[in-house]
Amino acid sequence: MNTAAVQSILVSPCSRLGGTLSVPGDKSISHRLAMLAALASGTSTISGFLKSEDCVNILDALTGLGARYEFSGGALRITGVGGVFKAPARVLDMGNSGTGMRLLAGLLAGQSFVSEMTGDASLRSRPMRRIAEPLERMGARIELLGDKGCAPVRITGGSLKGIEYAPPVASAQVKSCVLLAGLFAEGLTSVVEVSPTRDHTERLLTAMGVPVTVAGNRVSLRGCGKKGPSFTARAWSVPGDISSAAFWITAAAVAPGSMLELRRVGMNPRRSALLNVLRRMGAAITITDDPAADACEAMATIRVEGRALTGTEVGGAEIPDLIDELPLVAVAGALATGRTVIREAAELRVKESDRIRSVADNLARLGVKVEERPDGLIIEGSTRVRGGVTIDSYGDHRIPMAMSVLAFHADAPVRMDNIACVNKSYPEFWDDLRKVGGHAE
Ligand code: S3P
Repeated sequence: MNTAAVQSILVSPCSRLGGTLSVPGDKSISHRLAMLAALASGTSTISGFLKSEDCVNILDALTGLGARYEFSGGALRITGVGGVFKAPARVLDMGNSGTGMRLLAGLLAGQSFVSEMTGDASLRSRPMRRIAEPLERMGARIELLGDKGCAPVRITGGSLKGIEYAPPVASAQVKSCVLLAGLFAEGLTSVVEVSPTRDHTERLLTAMGVPVTVAGNRVSLRGCGKKGPSFTARAWSVPGDISSAAFWITAAAVAPGSMLELRRVGMNPRRSALLNVLRRMGAAITITDDPAADACEAMATIRVEGRALTGTEVGGAEIPDLIDELPLVAVAGALATGRTVIREAAELRVKESDRIRSVADNLARLGVKVEERPDGLIIEGSTRVRGGVTIDSYGDHRIPMAMSVLAFHADAPVRMDNIACVNKSYPEFWDDLRKVGGHAE
């Protein structure tokens, strides 16, 4: 069955998972590589690039700025503009991608033209002042044309000066936006983080020859001014996305009798905290290093054996390291013994959906005892998971995928509605669910 176009799916109970899987390429790295390759001179070949809706939206936006791309022989080939972008003749539609809009805003702020970006209803409801403020301080004019500091975003780019910026929230998107603008600025640009976040941008820029210095929570680079950086095209390979692997890691970890192996998973240290959290809950996870990917990231084979888990607490500096996996922590908590607490995670409220709300609502539909807090969730584990109910995706790709893990343990099949959003990050999700022994139709 071609599930790519299906709007609704029924997930059946499944007591254990097994097999070996390679998940699709990392979404964060794919976004960044697309943008940097679009600035380079020549044609870059990127193997393992994530061919999902979010990433294709970025590629299409980059063609509006003068780059060209094609998928050929399983790899992406991007021909860059060699320096600065061309003025777009149209509004750039970033679809659902917050990473796309926020990072590209940084690059657009350094171009000597006016550009405009928009997105779907979810993206147009997400906060953009967090990038407008530093970019304006650097010298760009940023107009937020939507309601209450939201997209569409109109950017009048030009002469930027380096700044030191301390974002009030831990956000790799904000950090990356400022650093990418910094490439086109005069002088030094520094970002000082409240808590360290994923460093894909820093790693890729270093690989492209930009000296990036890191001292504690301060990341700095020296800009090239208006002419922009001179990147040369090259071959890259992208590791599997740990945020996609996370669904299967959690599903296997919570189900005694499961034995699952995930290959070539990206192991950026600022992305892999879910593994620590699950281990703290009692999970049996072994990690064997694979040769590193060309995108300068560690990769590993992750083996998971199912166990009975106990509840845990997550908060503080751990949150940015598992921000996209928090719905899964809630799901693991629902299946564990005792209580699981997620705190200091208010950023979840401004993701593709309000993920505190969308997780709490769906857990409650499945009969799980859950309390919604302003900055997190409290979950009482070991309740019976009620099947025969319908899950609402809230248009947020990670919600139906996370709820599928819980549906495996329901006492009857669970319907997932409005699931087209899964294609934004993981179009093969339902096929992979079947590969590891699950049943969805
Ligand atoms: C991302 C950073 C995170 C994450 C998002 C991707 C990135 O957002 O939630 O899915 O690629 O930089 P924030 O940095 O805003 O928390």
